[in-house]
Amino acid sequence: MTVDRNELMDRVVALTKRRGFIFPTAEIYGGLSGFYEFGPYGVALKRAIRDLWWRHMVDLRDDVVGLESTLIMPAAVWEASGHLTNFVDPLRQCLGKCKKRWRADHVLGEKCPECGGPLDEARMFNLMFKTYVGPLQDRASEVYLRPETAQGMFVDFKNIINSTRVRVPFGIAQQGKAFRNEITPGNFVFRVREFELMEMEYFVRPQADDEWFSYWRSERLRWYTDVLGLDKNRLRFYDHPKESLSHYSKQTTDIEYEFPFGWGELEGIADRTDYDLAVHQEKSKQDLTSLDPETNERYLPWVIEPAVSVERIFITLLLDAYDEDVVNNEPRTLLRLHPNVAPVQVAVVPLSKKEELIRVAKDVIKALRGQFRVEYDQTGGNIGRRYRRQDEIGTPFCITVDFDTLNDQAVTIRKRDSTEQERVKIADLSPRLNSLAG
Ligand code: GAP
Repeated sequence: MTVDRNELMDRVVALTKRRGFIFPTAEIYGGLSGFYEFGPYGVALKRAIRDLWWRHMVDLRDDVVGLESTLIMPAAVWEASGHLTNFVDPLRQCLGKCKKRWRADHVLGEKCPECGGPLDEARMFNLMFKTYVGPLQDRASEVYLRPETAQGMFVDFKNIINSTRVRVPFGIAQQGKAFRNEITPGNFVFRVREFELMEMEYFVRPQADDEWFSYWRSERLRWYTDVLGLDKNRLRFYDHPKESLSHYSKQTTDIEYEFPFGWGELEGIADRTDYDLAVHQEKSKQDLTSLDPETNERYLPWVIEPAVSVERIFITLLLDAYDEDVVNNEPRTLLRLHPNVAPVQVAVVPLSKKEELIRVAKDVIKALRGQFRVEYDQTGGNIGRRYRRQDEIGTPFCITVDFDTLNDQAVTIRKRDSTEQERVKIADLSPRLNSLAG
């Protein structure tokens, strides 16, 4: 069944709260706009997204290495990178009743979208959070929370070249928190003020940028469809026109998803040229060039950068997977998540609380733990109710231990999407689940 697109976001938000995926930050104090906390299933889903990204961007390749740089970096970094001057959004404030602030490029016309009041002139607003290091709060102690992880890769470029055997073409990958004082956070965790970026700077020969740009575009799209299982009909490329490119970019393509509020950016892939290495080389007076072993010439590598946040993938996966149907004449809510990302991949549910069943169920879960994300569900309620609960958190497989198990050493695998059941010997359970998970 397809859920009405106008209602989809509200239903997903309600489900995430009900099932402990996401909570507003400090809710008992009224929350903090643009900040969210992740509960047990949310953490499991986030970890799955992060792990799959790292596996495909780093572990399964021999040309990408990892880095963890700091969340706070000196002002000199942001001055050189251009963020102090260019990381700005145009801001307009309502002069009428509601006094709300808006991103000028999100407002059509001259009236406040909320109360219809007049808007003031647009002024530029820097999105970086500023703080101070040490006891004095003066110009010299000003530092910034990073709005992207990328600058860590550029600032450490020389350290990595000098301490590892990587040579162009190669990438440096990083996952970690980023902070942006967004004027209008919204659409749940689509646009927030604290989020986790996953970025990879891929350093190439200057003339090879077009070829690698095209490689990373298709590679990243493939990851969304084949590894995360997103609906390919709701994904597309959007090539930015020249006039809307970031200050560092020669060409940028967004991988867009068709959200209930329209097509929006899921991931950006940018050709950053040698902009960043060039400005850091100039400001730091350090040589950031690489040596071409064939020509013996030194040059500044160019950079292709795929960048996405865990939160944006998170909300995309939930919107893509949310569904409602009717099973045995009863309405059901389910998340059709790919087994790769499901917070719980296998739930083990003993049919009753009889000790002999519980003993076997605990043995089964022990054998599966470590291979799959598992949950043991012996809570009250009939088996149907427990299946429904697992459907709602997106668990693709429930294993039922029943009285026959005691005689035939077999259990039932109940599949979330079709609700079909199949009987499998306990000894064959793990390979069978692996093959079903694809
Ligand atoms: N280093 C390049 C860079 O940061 P960006 O397009 O500003 O580029 C990259 O951000 C990705 O980060 C976006 O495609 C989106 O997935 C995510 N992102 C950006 N702002 C975000 C926000 N306020 N909340 C959640 N995710 C955000």
